[in-house]
Amino acid sequence: MMAKRFMAGAAATALLAGAATAQEEVEVLHWWTAGGEAAALEVLKTNLEAEGVTWSDMPVAGGAGDAAMTTLRARVTSGNAPTAVQMLGFDITEWANAGTVANLDEVAEEENWGDVVPAALQEFSKADGHWIAAPVNMHSTNWLWISDEALTEAGMEPPTDWDSFIAMLDAFQEQGITPLAHGGQAWQDATLWENVVLSMGTDFYKSAVLERNEDALTSDEMHTVFERMEQLRGYVDDNFSGRDWNLASAMVIEGEAGVQQMGDWAKGEFLRADMVPGEDFECIRFPGTQGSVTFNTDQFVMFEVGEERRDAQLKMAAAIMDPEFQIAFNTVKGSVPARTDVSDEEFDACGKKSMADIAEAAESDTLVGSLAHGHAAPPAVKNAMQDVITQHFNGALTTDEAPQALADAVKYAM
Ligand code: GAL
Repeated sequence: MMAKRFMAGAAATALLAGAATAQEEVEVLHWWTAGGEAAALEVLKTNLEAEGVTWSDMPVAGGAGDAAMTTLRARVTSGNAPTAVQMLGFDITEWANAGTVANLDEVAEEENWGDVVPAALQEFSKADGHWIAAPVNMHSTNWLWISDEALTEAGMEPPTDWDSFIAMLDAFQEQGITPLAHGGQAWQDATLWENVVLSMGTDFYKSAVLERNEDALTSDEMHTVFERMEQLRGYVDDNFSGRDWNLASAMVIEGEAGVQQMGDWAKGEFLRADMVPGEDFECIRFPGTQGSVTFNTDQFVMFEVGEERRDAQLKMAAAIMDPEFQIAFNTVKGSVPARTDVSDEEFDACGKKSMADIAEAAESDTLVGSLAHGHAAPPAVKNAMQDVITQHFNGALTTDEAPQALADAVKYAM
């Protein structure tokens, strides 16, 4: 396999150059601390260990990378950057502009990353035409994870539009369970919000979220979005504040809640609980968003490290892009490969659907970046929008106030 050949070559060069292998270690900053996430990361650790590379773990819990980026800033400011950092979309661009990232052209060219990484991802993996990051997956956020037990008890089919979604939530309420499992972090509210925006149409999503047109941000449609968010808040239990996303998944898994809206990393939790898609849970696109996909991709951005750590860094980059690894990792993580040349054969029904949906959306120009997960707007704008969304969800802003507050937040963040 190409990856193996390259690694052997790089290791041999290092030895010849007398660099030896004393520092065959990668220090990796990431936020994959939930069960499914940690299990997926273990695949990479194990593969690297087989290459003689030791893994020094730097986990910063929290999801969506907000806390991890704060830790990274502190490390870089003190002149002590990790080898590799899990990162999303526009965060990558911002760090590339800061000029502290490493160049991966050597391994990318050797292994033809340019031919297999989708264009939408390359936009972030490269800066000024140079590879600076290795994409490990493709997630998408517009999913519902429904308990089959609750759905069967309701005698319903999975919802396809807003009215049938609400009817399902009402039925779950009658069953005495929490209808909508939701956690209490700003990014979780923003993930739900971007789904509701997308359900108003992909063109509306593009205009309001990607282009951030003031007219769209203050439109009647945006008022409806916030009205629907208020309505959804009514189906969430009162203890959601501060709850991690995976604990919300656990509520569905344990039968305490009927459905969770979450990116497909949630599937990692369902699988770890030995649940089977189509039997124990349903993965469907958020009602009204069929045909569109809000994507996010985790990439490992490599930082400038001393010569003695460079060989391990390149080995890690090659290991991430290895096709077999991408299958092994993503079948556990809930995501799909960041390469277009990998078969869907080993993926379950949700994974197969995801791969097909992404290909179709890319074709029909309905593949759009997720706001909450860094692929729609620069970090400052994302954070400003997220603040308004979460304030509204927590009752600090009314539905009438929210659209204008959102437009103002965008204006001042730029
Ligand atoms: C996302 C990330 C996923 C995921 C999630 C929750 O931003 O892309 O890989 O695991 O956060 O931690």
